[in-house]
Amino acid sequence: MSDKAILSLDGKKFEFDLFTGSENERCIDITHLRKETGYITMDQGFGNTGSCFSDITFVDGAKGILRYRGYPIEELAEKATFVETAYLILYGELPSADKLRNFSNSLREHAPLHTNLKHHFEGLPSDAPPMAILSAMLNMVSCFHPEVLDVHTKGAGFDRTAALLLSKVRTIAAWAYRMAVGKPFNHPNPNFSYCSNFLHMMFSEPYQEYIPSPVVEKALNLFLVLHADHEQNCSTSTVRVVGSSRANLFSSVSAGVCALWGPLHGGANSAVIQMLEEIKESGRPLTDYIKMAKAKNNTFRLMGFGHRVYKNFDPRSLILKKAVDEVLHELNMEDPLLDIARELEEKTLQDDYFKERNLYPNVDFYSGILLRAIGIPLNMYPVMFAIGRMPGWIANWHELHAHKQRISRPRQIYTGSNTRSYKPIEER
Ligand code: CMC
Repeated sequence: MSDKAILSLDGKKFEFDLFTGSENERCIDITHLRKETGYITMDQGFGNTGSCFSDITFVDGAKGILRYRGYPIEELAEKATFVETAYLILYGELPSADKLRNFSNSLREHAPLHTNLKHHFEGLPSDAPPMAILSAMLNMVSCFHPEVLDVHTKGAGFDRTAALLLSKVRTIAAWAYRMAVGKPFNHPNPNFSYCSNFLHMMFSEPYQEYIPSPVVEKALNLFLVLHADHEQNCSTSTVRVVGSSRANLFSSVSAGVCALWGPLHGGANSAVIQMLEEIKESGRPLTDYIKMAKAKNNTFRLMGFGHRVYKNFDPRSLILKKAVDEVLHELNMEDPLLDIARELEEKTLQDDYFKERNLYPNVDFYSGILLRAIGIPLNMYPVMFAIGRMPGWIANWHELHAHKQRISRPRQIYTGSNTRSYKPIEER
């Protein structure tokens, strides 16, 4: 096999290096394309463009494979805690017992928010969207810890900044919810695990501490593990683009939160539940919605279906579908939306439109039903995604520095007016 790609252009031949990744993914290195040929490539939405080399996460969309640092998602989902998974994603290896203890202690130490931050939450309107609060508060928190405003890319400085972020994001999220429902803030309890502590800060009431059942804690842990990283998606690419200007970690992930918010990305989990609710309320047959999703002149899409990379089942949706069944059973609950979701999946799997386009349920299709079962309110779903994705964002920000990534600066092809002269207003 040739180790060069040959491009024939304007009667000349140009050679470009080929590169093969550790899972045999191949690329043509066009770093010098413009310099050598005067041409750029056009790839709107970046479906064919690699933006970096990465050791963190591997996705094979054709086979439905997802691995963090080489470990299959199925194994991590079954056996690992979110904190262990976060350590793996950040540092490349599963932690020893000692390292896990130190890491957990560090998360525990950084969980409280500065007292003055309380006033910033209190100044917000109660209907402020939690994703806007999360993004703003991440930058706000950094103001109270000026040492994280320095760009720590390795060593103890990075360890501390990463732990601070991973821990405080959970407190910010819970406080955003408490503020919205007009209830007093709960302070983190250092005796609780990462997941229990979050649930305690969300749901404990004065004189009534919330102790989650093991089923609920396990379900939240699973949700977070499944969202911990997913290579160069929209929000992670945003974190890398912002970080490439050497912006600090907090401001980079704050931009990541904004990118995640949209309904085509992390906002899809709440959009799925809204869609299922609407189907239930309307009493209309599912085929009406499928028809609408297929109609060329209709912007309606089946939320929770389709993926840029997976052209087969998203392995996370398979895990979640099974987990939702188990959790509802163990909690002795029923959710009519689950029946609608299952039926919708069944119908689309037999439909030529969905088959031809390889549209399968993605991670967001069943995750909302899991979050509903554990009592998380709808407008918090994308925030839950952001808490889960934090290790991936941090690891990608870290890696771009380790790999000395150049500042991100795509080119464009200009299609506007040619040069023209300014005319005084009375001549226009
Ligand atoms: N319902 C109906 N048709 C769809 C859907 C859908 N959910 N998704 C894609 N299509 C059609 C689309 O209309 C197009 O058809 P045609 O070739 O006839 O024009 C074809 O499938 C390819 O779609 P695309 O928009 O070019 O695909 P994309 O890779 O640009 O977009 C996506 C991927 C996930 C944004 C899209 O599938 C979508 O909008 N899905 C619904 C929102 C959603 O569930 N998002 C969560 C994504 S997974 C978690 C995450 O990354 O956040």
